[in-house]
Amino acid sequence: MPEPLRVGLAGLGTVGSAVAAMLDRSRAALAERAGRPIDVVAVASKDPPKDATLDLSKMRRIEDPVALARDPGIDVFVELMGGEADPAKGSVEAALGIGRSVVTANKALLARHGVALARLAEKHNAALCFEAAVAGGIPIVKTLREGLGGSRIARIYGILNGTCNYILTRMHEERLSFAECLKDAQRLGYAEADPTFDIGGFDTAHKLAILTSLAFATEVDADAVHVEGIESISLADLQAADELGYRVKLLGVAQRTEAGIEQRVHPTMVKQGSVIGEVEGVTNAIAIDADTMGLTLMGPGAGGKATSTAVVADLMDLAGGRRVLSFGRPASALSKAERAPMQRHEGGYYIRLAVVDRPGTAATIARRMAEQTISLESIVQRGRDRRPHGGEDPRSADKPAPVVLITYATTEDAVRRALAAIEHDGVLAEKPQVIRIEKS
Ligand SMILES: NC(=O)c1ccc[n+]([C@@H]2O[C@H](COP(=O)([O-])OP(=O)(O)OC[C@H]3O[C@@H](n4cnc5c(N)ncnc54)[C@H](OP(=O)(O)O)[C@@H]3O)[C@@H](O)[C@H]2O)c1
Repeated sequence: MPEPLRVGLAGLGTVGSAVAAMLDRSRAALAERAGRPIDVVAVASKDPPKDATLDLSKMRRIEDPVALARDPGIDVFVELMGGEADPAKGSVEAALGIGRSVVTANKALLARHGVALARLAEKHNAALCFEAAVAGGIPIVKTLREGLGGSRIARIYGILNGTCNYILTRMHEERLSFAECLKDAQRLGYAEADPTFDIGGFDTAHKLAILTSLAFATEVDADAVHVEGIESISLADLQAADELGYRVKLLGVAQRTEAGIEQRVHPTMVKQGSVIGEVEGVTNAIAIDADTMGLTLMGPGAGGKATSTAVVADLMDLAGGRRVLSFGRPASALSKAERAPMQRHEGGYYIRLAVVDRPGTAATIARRMAEQTISLESIVQRGRDRRPHGGEDPRSADKPAPVVLITYATTEDAVRRALAAIEHDGVLAEKPQVIRIEKS
């Protein structure tokens, strides 16, 4: 039997425990496919493993992850502690710095330091593998880096955060408020106690920054991503979307435009019946528009089982001697992306206004839109509350009337100018809601 690939594993949480369990459970099958066994020989973990059935008796325990990364008894360092700072950063640098390959699922680390780490890996002839960092079990990194290596990609977009998609799905299906669905997501373990990172769109932005680099050969730049979360989405928006033939999803979108590479994360209207529009619950999906073909990958974006599958796939590559440059090309070949300003974004828009009901309001709105050469595909004045036997409930007479506009393709700048003018005209009772429409 050939010598095993000796793994040093830092972090025995959800993913780390699942990786150790999978390597143990499938040792013989993995050895057959990879050409040699893959064994965890040493671990760094603060706590007992999340999986209490794990047998750690054959593994050395090394307290300091940096010491583990440099330990002469391992061939590969697997970082599953998380976070963009130390000990994750320091230990990954320590391993790469002595020419030791690294496997990580750490999107935060890669979104901030991906290029520097890829340079370090190249300099020391080590591999930096991160299939698990984006969309858990979906093999999107390999697809972009290798499968589509010969294609020119125009756009990549998708649902990259299961927590947000779970909340939006529950709101839509059960007509529950955002707050109620968030509470449920936390109870079920889909959302953290502090959910800001997920629902604010920042987790999606980290993943999108990595995908952008792989798709467009640009340096990873998380600060170039325009980020909006789902906190402002109301049942009124989901109901209007339904009636207009759309679904609301939190999308990450990276796209080549004349102004540069656009990277944006925001709630988005996508057509009902489109593949992305029908993705429900915690599932992730990523669509790619390339010159050669269009492609959509869908699957579990998180959880121990799915994520460990991706980590183990990277380990199998290393065990079999298959090594690819981190971003599919030398780090020196990654260009600084020209950042397309969000004001120049072009597309359709959903705009929901709460207007004060007085004569001339509709004409004011139409005039302000026309001044910015915005053409309207539809304008729907939604009724106020109705009485059980028909007619408007007189108690709602003083309430603002909802008006929903759908625009043809226009620019972000034009929409913002038109809305500023409408607000200035004093016909709005609330801040307008704006949701971009994405072709899907
Ligand atoms: N969970 C998922 O579904 C998923 C999916 C894709 C990617 N990821 C990524 O995978 C990584 C791990 O995520 P996870 O969900 O497994 O997190 P987790 O359950 O919180 O596990 C992280 C583990 O690392 C340990 N740790 C932290 N600092 C350490 C140190 N100095 N020395 C040794 N151990 C240390 C933690 O111990 P303490 O708890 O005591 O701090 C914890 O057991 C993250 O980068 C995450 O973004 C996770």
